Amino acid sequence: MIVGFFPATTMPDADWWRALWPDPVTLLVEMGVQPGMVVVDLCCGDGLFTAPLARIVDGVYAIDIDPAMLDRARALVAAAGSTNCHFVVADAMTFDAVVPEPVDYVFLANTLHGVPDQLGLARTVVAILKPEGQFGVVNWHRRPREETRVFGQPRGPRTEMRMEARDVAVIG
Ligand SMILES: C[S@@+](CC[C@H](N)C(=O)[O-])C[C@H]1O[C@@H](n2cnc3c(N)ncnc32)[C@H](O)[C@@H]1O
Repeated sequence: MIVGFFPATTMPDADWWRALWPDPVTLLVEMGVQPGMVVVDLCCGDGLFTAPLARIVDGVYAIDIDPAMLDRARALVAAAGSTNCHFVVADAMTFDAVVPEPVDYVFLANTLHGVPDQLGLARTVVAILKPEGQFGVVNWHRRPREETRVFGQPRGPRTEMRMEARDVAVIG
């Protein structure tokens, strides 16, 4: 067990996860990620979003509390030929202590639902963002889990953990 690990945020199996996210680049661009930025991929997992991020922006800090996840992300980024990514094992609640510069964007995908102190996390994000910086969150809509099926199976966090965009906006 990793101390500080957010509940219900274990990295999903790659088969259905990659089927669910077939085009991370388009998602990142639609969320405002642009060339020239320095971005934190917070709770980066195995690097599904980290590798495309590194291809779009100037620099990436990939942060996860699980060293095994960072090893997988590092391998994915290296396979894509990017060299602009720093990989740091850290708790997201205090990640501002390990990022040595203000950043343009903090990207947090598929994790906020499990964060016990969401306001505290948002405060940490604000502490590291440049004045015009952005906090982009990807989360499961509050649809019943039974309805969110991939490869025929219900997927994602428990229904009651899910958040609509307006719930996320209140925190951010
Ligand atoms: C559901 S996965 C999502 C990974 C990636 N963002 C994605 O969407 O593909 C959640 C990740 O959060 C990490 N995590 C859990 N608790 C954390 C914490 N307190 N600080 C940093 N990372 C954490 C887990 O190790 C896992 O890799």
